[in-house]
Amino acid sequence: MKSIVKIAPSILTMDYLQIEKEIKSVENPELACWHLDIMDGNFVPQISFGQDIVEKIKSISNIPIEVHLMVVNPHEQVQKFIDIGVDKIIVHIEAIADPSELISITHKNNKEFALAINPETSVEAITKYIGELNQVTVMTVHPGFGGQKMITNSLEKIKEIKDFMRKKKIEIPINFQVDGGVKEDNLELCISAGASNVVMGSAIFNDDLDRQNTVHYLQEKIRGICEN
Ligand code: DX5
Ligand code: ZN
Repeated sequence: MKSIVKIAPSILTMDYLQIEKEIKSVENPELACWHLDIMDGNFVPQISFGQDIVEKIKSISNIPIEVHLMVVNPHEQVQKFIDIGVDKIIVHIEAIADPSELISITHKNNKEFALAINPETSVEAITKYIGELNQVTVMTVHPGFGGQKMITNSLEKIKEIKDFMRKKKIEIPINFQVDGGVKEDNLELCISAGASNVVMGSAIFNDDLDRQNTVHYLQEKIRGICEN
């Protein structure tokens, strides 16, 4: 059976006055996880939210949580998110000279570790660590805001990394996540590029308030693409 690409919803454009309602209307067991974008106003211009909100979401949610750390000091933040029980930590390679220590801290705590790469960063920046990663998050927008248009060239990085792994005979399973500008009309592109999961923010949290219907529709659409 072909594996079905899963959605990781990003709440960046949700209605924050109704967090619980928003979370519950979107959540279903077929989702990959919540993709929670942590922005510090330094690594990216905007400030989003921190551990308190993540903890609250965890308390009402039944699916895993990954935190996408868009912060200049991941060393100081990783342990704090591990302590509140998130399932996966995503760190930007642009924010850290050597992620080895954070990878081992995360794995020692039985959590997953991912590296994110910005559109202008080449895959060579992360290949050294590939064998230790659970996921690569390929940024298809410049990080910082929801609702941007996808930079489709970045999708080629998935193939580049897969080619590298084949050449180096690295056989560990790794997820390829596409983050930024994923919409109904580019799902096919993401899937054929080799995505294992896709972050969807404004495609879900938009003017159509029937969130449940939107998510089910997108999941069906993905199923159709993957089964063909
Ligand atoms: C961008 C964030 C994304 C963003 C996705 O900095 O990392 O996760 O929230 O939102 P959309 O799907 O609207 O591009
Ligand atoms: Zn993100």
